[in-house]
Amino acid sequence: MEFMIDSNLNIVSDLLRWGRERLEKAEIEDSAISAELLMRSLLGLSRAQFILGHDRLVDPKTESEYKALVERRAAREPLQHLIGWVDFYNITLKADRRALIPRPETEILVETVLGMLKGQSSPEILDIGTGSGNIAIAIARSLPGSRLVGLDISPEALQLAEFNATHNGVEDQIKLVRGDILDLPFVRSLEAFDCIVSNPPYVSNLDREILQPEVVDFEPTVALFSGDDPLIFFKTIVINISYILKPGGLLAFEVGMGQARLVAKMMRDNFKNVEIANDLAGIERVVTGIYARPDKQ
Ligand SMILES: C[S@@+](CC[C@H](N)C(=O)[O-])C[C@H]1O[C@@H](n2cnc3c(N)ncnc32)[C@H](O)[C@@H]1O
Repeated sequence: MEFMIDSNLNIVSDLLRWGRERLEKAEIEDSAISAELLMRSLLGLSRAQFILGHDRLVDPKTESEYKALVERRAAREPLQHLIGWVDFYNITLKADRRALIPRPETEILVETVLGMLKGQSSPEILDIGTGSGNIAIAIARSLPGSRLVGLDISPEALQLAEFNATHNGVEDQIKLVRGDILDLPFVRSLEAFDCIVSNPPYVSNLDREILQPEVVDFEPTVALFSGDDPLIFFKTIVINISYILKPGGLLAFEVGMGQARLVAKMMRDNFKNVEIANDLAGIERVVTGIYARPDKQ
C-alpha cells in the first residue's frame, strides 16, 4: 500500500503529526516519541528548544530528510541507528550497524561491576565481546585508574569501539584487541586480569524467529547468536578462566532470560560468592563470582 505524503506540510508540528501517524500505521511502538526524536536529531535541538519551536517553518530539504527518516523507521530500522547516538550509563555512544546497540539492562552489569570493584584504584579489566565499547568505556569513565582490554572478534565493532573510546576521552585507558574467545591458543596467549566482564552472544539459533525485525535485520548476527548452544560462551570462559583471571578476581556476566541459574551452577566449583542480580524488569540478568582456584588447569 502506498502512503500519501502531503506536500504542503511545512511547520514542525504538522510534520510531527504526520510522522506520528505514519509510525502508528506501521505499528511502531512509541510512535510519538520516535517522531519527535527523529525531528530533534535532524534539527539538532534539545527538548526545551524543540518545545519552543513547534511553529517553526521547516525548509523543503529538511522536510524531505525527515520524511525519509520516518519511512526508514516505519521499515523497522532501529531508532538509535537513525539518530546515530545512544545514551548508556554515564556516556553517549555512536550507534550503527557495526555493533550491537547497547541495552539498558547492560547498565546493571556495569553498575554491579563498579560496586564490586570499589576500593580497587587501578584494576586491570578484560571486556569480552566489547562491541561498541559501551561496558569498557563506562567503566573507564567511572574508574579513572582502571586499565581495560576490549576484546572482540569483529573488526567492524572494534572500529566503532575505537571511535567511541576517543569520543568519550578514554582512549588511553582502553586497548582494543581482535581475537576469538572460543579459540584456546588465543586465550592462552592472554594475560591474567583482576576482573573479567562479558555480555557475550547468548541467543540460540533456534530463537531467531522470536526476535524483532529491528534486531534480526539490522544488528550483527555475530553479536547475537551463540550457535546451537546458547551457553557456549559462558562455558568456555568458565572452563578457561585460569588463563585470564587472577585468583581472587571478579567474573561478571550478563546472561539471557532463564540462563542465570545455569551459569551460576557452572561457576560454583571454581568461584565463591556466586550471586545473581536482577534487571529493572525483575529478570535475573547478571551473574558474578570471585575466582577461588589458584592452580592452572
Ligand atoms: C551481545 S554483544 C555485546 C556487545 C557489547 N559488549 C554490549 O554489551 O552491547 C557480543 C559481542 O561479542 C562479540 N563476539 C562474538 N563472538 C565472539 C568471539 N568468538 N570472540 C570474541 N568476541 C566475540 C560480538 O562481535 C559482539 O560484539
